[in-house]
Amino acid sequence: MRHKPQVVLITGATRGIGRVTALHMAERGHQVIATGRNQDLLATLAGEAKQRSLPITTATMDVNDDADVQSVVQQALRDFGRINALVNNAGYGLWGPIEELEIDELRAVFETNLFAVVRLSQAVIPQMRERESGTIVNVGSMAGQVTLPVNGAYSATKFALEAISRAMHMELAHAGIRVTLIEPGVFQTDFHKNVVIGRRVMKPGSPNMERTLRMRTKPPAENRLRADPIRVAWRIRQAIEGKRVKARYATGIDAHAGKYAARLAPDWLIDYVLTKALRW
Ligand SMILES: NC(=O)c1ccc[n+]([C@@H]2O[C@H](COP(=O)([O-])OP(=O)(O)OC[C@H]3O[C@@H](n4cnc5c(N)ncnc54)[C@H](OP(=O)(O)O)[C@@H]3O)[C@@H](O)[C@H]2O)c1
Repeated sequence: MRHKPQVVLITGATRGIGRVTALHMAERGHQVIATGRNQDLLATLAGEAKQRSLPITTATMDVNDDADVQSVVQQALRDFGRINALVNNAGYGLWGPIEELEIDELRAVFETNLFAVVRLSQAVIPQMRERESGTIVNVGSMAGQVTLPVNGAYSATKFALEAISRAMHMELAHAGIRVTLIEPGVFQTDFHKNVVIGRRVMKPGSPNMERTLRMRTKPPAENRLRADPIRVAWRIRQAIEGKRVKARYATGIDAHAGKYAARLAPDWLIDYVLTKALRW
């Protein structure tokens, strides 16, 4: 292996981008600490790693639980002496027009998609500061650049993550700690299956239920458009192994298109195209 092996802690490694990244980083010879909530899925990942002799250890961790986070970080430091890289990947979507989302639903999605990124980062930064090196990779989204009807709450978490991540990128550079944000487009994972739909939207009498469900019934072609999450894993790996790291990386053709549209096209045009395309 050309690169020095690094100790990489990944959140939400039971599925999707997190799982693919855990396997990819371990295949490159890095020591991976794959964390997640679901014991069965963690055991399956541990089994695959053992069978393929990959350097992956698994640990139970809900990113919203302070005690879980402290205990996993301390254990990792006892076992490996350092955490070189943190991948803040855990996240989920909340769907529903803003008028019908409950405040507790909004709080919950911000807890996981934003506040937990801060919790995990604060837990690993002190030992990175001591070594004057480390990389924090935050998994944002194209939804942090452009929003859609029904997706406003999720988008708000990812817009906010853009700001947090960018500030950290500047704040920690002098301490030798690199912070970057990956902005994926649409990738083939369990994300869309795991989207939470606001409770009120699903109640009879909701003025939005029909439209929301119509948007959920995706045309079959859309599945074919979803890209392989290994592309996101490659980008994460490049950020961790690379000499220099940019503040953010759009990942996927759709993410690049969305980013440039957000910069160049007038708001009315973006809104018109999106509401028409989504049949809202
Ligand atoms: N797929 C896409 O198209 C796409 C596009 C842009 C951005 N993203 C971002 O990519 C990241 C990964 O999503 P994905 O596509 O891989 O979706 P996924 O297949 O649904 O995986 C999400 C992972 O996050 C974990 N997670 C959720 N809440 C958690 C919590 N409180 N504590 C610990 N783990 C938690 C899930 O664990 P459980 O198994 O316990 O549920 C799962 O392992 C997310 O931040 C998402 O916003 C995805």
